[in-house]
Amino acid sequence: MNKYITIFFIFYFFMLLLFNSCTKKHIEYPELETENISFSANIQPIFDNNCITCHNKNSDVLDLKEGFSYLELLNKNFLNVVQPKESKLIIKINEQHPQLGIPNSYEKEIIEKWMEKGAVNN
Ligand code: HEC
Repeated sequence: MNKYITIFFIFYFFMLLLFNSCTKKHIEYPELETENISFSANIQPIFDNNCITCHNKNSDVLDLKEGFSYLELLNKNFLNVVQPKESKLIIKINEQHPQLGIPNSYEKEIIEKWMEKGAVNN
């Protein structure tokens, strides 16, 4: 009888471990990343990886290189801090843009969150 009780507790212990590890992973990941979004640390790298092969100083429409991107987006009215999804920037990359160089949905969400928090040049 004792043996069964021991086996039961070992089993119980492992189930506890299993469920704990699952719930932890679930809570930690996306929250952390979107809380402190910074233009230079989070947004500019998205432009560097996806956009600047076309959007550089030779582009007629938009220069997204570091040092120019923020003012370009601001001056040409591409940002919308009230309704990020309605910003010309998001509409453009969602709907009316050449398919090359489109950021993934996670990156788009970061850009939208950054606008939601005031589109600060930080
Ligand atoms: C393969 C080249 C290419 C890449 C990569 C690219 N674009 Fe573009 N983009 C264009 C071209 C060409 C236009 C102008 C034609 C048009 O408006 O469809 C344009 C237009 C735009 C416009 C509208 C400008 C205006 O004045 O209306 C925005 C905003 C924009 N791109 C954002 C981005 C962002 C953000 C990225 C990266 C996530 C990106 N683009 C990547 C080629 C590119």
